[in-house]
Amino acid sequence: MRQPSLTSTASYQALQSHAKDAQQWQMRDLFAQDPQRFERLSSEAAGLFLDYSKNRLDGRTLALLADLARERGAEKLRDAMFNGDKINLTEHRAVLHTALRAPKDKQITVDGQDITADVHGVLARIKAFSDAVRNGQWLGHTGKEITDIVNIGIGGSDLGPKMVCLALRQYAHPRLTMHFVSNVDGHDMDAALSRVNPETTLFIIASKTFTTAETMMNANTARQWFLKHASEAALAKHFVAVSTNVEAIKKFGIDPDNMFPFWDWVGGRYSVWSAIGLPVALCVGYGYFADFLAGAHALDEHFRTAPIEENLPMILALVGFWNREFLGCASVSIAPYHQDLNRFPAYLQQLEMESNGKRVTRAGDTITDYETCPVIWGDVGTNGQHAYFQLLHQGTDVTPMDFIATLRPAHEFQNHHAALLANCFAQSEAFMKGKTADEVRVDLAGQDPAEIERLVPHKTFPGNRPSNTILMEYLTPATLGALIALYEHKTFVQGALWDVNSFDQWGVELGKVLAKKIEAELNGDAQPAQHDGSTNGLIARAKAAV
Ligand code: F6P
Repeated sequence: MRQPSLTSTASYQALQSHAKDAQQWQMRDLFAQDPQRFERLSSEAAGLFLDYSKNRLDGRTLALLADLARERGAEKLRDAMFNGDKINLTEHRAVLHTALRAPKDKQITVDGQDITADVHGVLARIKAFSDAVRNGQWLGHTGKEITDIVNIGIGGSDLGPKMVCLALRQYAHPRLTMHFVSNVDGHDMDAALSRVNPETTLFIIASKTFTTAETMMNANTARQWFLKHASEAALAKHFVAVSTNVEAIKKFGIDPDNMFPFWDWVGGRYSVWSAIGLPVALCVGYGYFADFLAGAHALDEHFRTAPIEENLPMILALVGFWNREFLGCASVSIAPYHQDLNRFPAYLQQLEMESNGKRVTRAGDTITDYETCPVIWGDVGTNGQHAYFQLLHQGTDVTPMDFIATLRPAHEFQNHHAALLANCFAQSEAFMKGKTADEVRVDLAGQDPAEIERLVPHKTFPGNRPSNTILMEYLTPATLGALIALYEHKTFVQGALWDVNSFDQWGVELGKVLAKKIEAELNGDAQPAQHDGSTNGLIARAKAAV
């Protein structure tokens, strides 16, 4: 159904006129005026604490944003998602990653099918299989225990399991080394295969569609490599597959007992909770995988039931929307102050940018009068501080930050943790406060006055730069599950505000089709087509180099 354009709504217009004032605000002043600001502008759920007080907004801004969320039907759309309505309008699919982490007694049906039973049926198989590999009952074809697991997948079939296995490193089985091969670049496969022994390696071919070119090429290469060392009969002990495309798995030659299905109502970037999470269950064990699902479910329940003003994903989405639409921030930097979350920014890039990187509304109208998804990027603190934080503090763009940290470490080096947290908190303070010219002058007092004045502009920080801080006690399977679900639902709410379909990704198709054509040309199987001058020239150079 066609919605009124975002900018024509009463609540958007109220925000627009409010923004004229807010754009002049200094956060330093907002904190000085309201000693309770931190308490007022922070909230907690499912083991996550969100401080959003270091943003250029106040209670009224939040109230207006909540009005907008209501007017845009964010709550209704949320309920429709949980209910299994086909809200992915261009693919006619339900969006039910939340069902993957719902308890057994929660009845959810899609097209008359009881999907809770299906989900728990596959979970039982994941448990049995991961238990067998971990406890050494599942052996390679020469009778040896599995030592290495190579997940072959790309996008959502790689980023989620890889990020989670790294994040839960502390819980990993000591015998199992996880490898993730995603890139069609043969160097990726070469690096993994050079480290593993075919007798003790398990390959997981993970692809929702089982047609993705990179994954299929990597899967075939792995199969050929394996068959150089073992017979066809041995494949069953070393190759398993995860997909919604059971026919294609059979065609690839994988034993039907080694298939772990999932369903078209699970989007690729929302699939780590499905059988795509098999590497996680193998790495940390089924019990912790179940905790991971339970953590996400706790956040789902919060998202489903809490009023907008106390609802973490709603707040995170609304604050981000405010920064994007009214403060003109074109990118968001994610800064986990936890080394084990070092793939989290990359994971969020797919989640948010593939979901909301859209320029037409759900009804297909071109969006011309507002911005949608900002660029998401980042790296772990403190490393980023010594690389690109210069631009964040003193560059011409204002980039909101999400700081993520745990209050307690999972190691015994307490001094390291204090230093880490000190840096995390100091950065958000510095972004917020900045440093005025007068403060710089005080610092430089005693030096040559002309030299002081020459240095002042270089040493001044504008400040007033927004950030959120998300804290949790420890990084556990449950808090990690909640953290991912928080961002999933933030993405959902922003998609609802922008009126885009967050669940398709047609933008990746054009390049795929052209790559197929050019690949055939490079291999000499097809006559060069008439491309543009640049592409023709590049192809010619590549062919000449063969
Ligand atoms: O090309 C984009 C995409 O479809 C992503 O949405 C998806 O996560 C990835 O490719 C991998 O797809 P599949 O799991 O079907 O191989």
